[in-house]
Amino acid sequence: MSKQKFYLTTAIPYGNGAPHIGHAYEIIAADVLSRYYRAAGYDCYFLAGMDEHGQKMQQTAKKNGETPQQLADRTAGLFQDMHRSLNIQYDDFIRTTEDRHKKAVQHLWQKMVEAGDIYLGKYAGWYSVRDEAYFDEKELHMAEGIRCAPTGAPVEWVEEESYFFKLSSYQQKLLDWYGKNPHCVQPESRRNEIVNFVKDGLSDLSVSRTTFDWGVPVPGAPRHVMYVWVDALSNYITALGYPDDDNRLLHNYWPADCQLIGKDIVRFHAIYWPAFLMSAGLPLPAQVYGHGFIYNRGEKMSKSVGNVITPAELIDEYGCDQLRYFLLREVAFGQDGSYSHDAIISRINSDLANDLGNLAQRTLSQIAKNCDEKIPPQGDLTQDDQQLFTLLHNAKHSYHTEMKQLAFHRALEALWHVIAECNRYIDAQAPWSLKKTDVPRMQTVLHVIIECVRQIAILLRPFMPTSMDAMLDQLAIGEGERGFSCLDHGLVAGAALPVPQGVFPRYQVAEQAEQKT
Ligand code: MSP
Repeated sequence: MSKQKFYLTTAIPYGNGAPHIGHAYEIIAADVLSRYYRAAGYDCYFLAGMDEHGQKMQQTAKKNGETPQQLADRTAGLFQDMHRSLNIQYDDFIRTTEDRHKKAVQHLWQKMVEAGDIYLGKYAGWYSVRDEAYFDEKELHMAEGIRCAPTGAPVEWVEEESYFFKLSSYQQKLLDWYGKNPHCVQPESRRNEIVNFVKDGLSDLSVSRTTFDWGVPVPGAPRHVMYVWVDALSNYITALGYPDDDNRLLHNYWPADCQLIGKDIVRFHAIYWPAFLMSAGLPLPAQVYGHGFIYNRGEKMSKSVGNVITPAELIDEYGCDQLRYFLLREVAFGQDGSYSHDAIISRINSDLANDLGNLAQRTLSQIAKNCDEKIPPQGDLTQDDQQLFTLLHNAKHSYHTEMKQLAFHRALEALWHVIAECNRYIDAQAPWSLKKTDVPRMQTVLHVIIECVRQIAILLRPFMPTSMDAMLDQLAIGEGERGFSCLDHGLVAGAALPVPQGVFPRYQVAEQAEQKT
């Protein structure tokens, strides 16, 4: 039987600057989701990439004294370094300056022309280079005498000949799409915002620029380059080999099952993108999900505030899996959240080192000492043992439900509930006393706990792949036995175990570290 497919995409970051924690957050979430679906037996395809055209790129490159391509190459390298150090496993990484992309976007443009949706006109209005977006006068505000977009970015007046896309004629079609597909834009609050915005009416969209040249040329119109969002959004299909209908990737994976993006760009993905797709006669994605923003202690990170911490610094300080866990446990996915040094070490020391690490370590040390370094047999189960397994069974159910809704924090919470119960169970059963009075019972208790640890480690693998593999190595679980289909197999009594080694060291709070923000 062929596997069910799952096509997952992330936003492609602008190639005009180094990656920050917001970028790390998004790609970590996507990586966790893709590992989850792979472990669940899906044929998952995970795409990431870079958005390398547009006025912002051209301006930044000029300021730096380099060409836009040099800037794009340098930045793509920085992002890929970050991906490696975060242990991100995507299937493809598309850059919009690649030929395969440029040719395909021109084809998409042609399709929109053939559909009668593109016409030549003149744009006169406000544009924010930082957001690469057009704004209506009514959306703007004044800050220190400067006219700004809702994002706080300054806007400039633009008047130029431009091709337009007939977005206005897609209002009802979009409303029908939202109406028929309750999950196509999530979370619910963002979906409501979008529906209300579209109900207010849509203006046609300016989709080409003539005042700079760093972009994909509009076919047949040499002075025009495509508006960077037409170019960038198309990456989700150009990476699959669009327009080649025979391409296996396009055929297998489009439409996307989940398009993960931040809350600031939902409008582009939930309005423009489906309209372009409808115009080109392509199917629409199953879901666009707008996650929240990560702030440093509640403040937006900015060079002027001086609170910018790079992902590389955080990984060096706390560890890759620790950071991956922290970000998805601490912040309710979909909402905004904050990170701080104190919050990270509290999660590392309490959740990882104490609750989970210590549970595994103390159980495995007792097995090493008292069970001949082998997985002990499981005798008859008492009501306490059965209750613990029932709890684990229910937690697994919640975990899967929450993961499918991208509620990572709640999926982790469900597992930590079982971890806490395992700790209570071991304290109540006291296998260290049983070793003098009832060895078979001691063996059963230790077996029950490591069976729970085994299953929990398999379920946590998408979040903390390296640490959970180390934990499963300690339990002598083979590499092919770490998918969800192996959850119900159970441990094999008598298998030899390696010398136990702690997986999560405590974060030592040095005086110097304590003063950190
Ligand atoms: N280039 C566009 C996306 C084009 S997708 C076809 C863009 N780039 S970006 O670099 O500004 O942002 C990339 C992603 O990072 C977006 O999904 C954005 O929402 C996300 N984030 C940017 N800052 C963030 C935080 N502080 N926190 C969480 N995510 C954030 O937009």
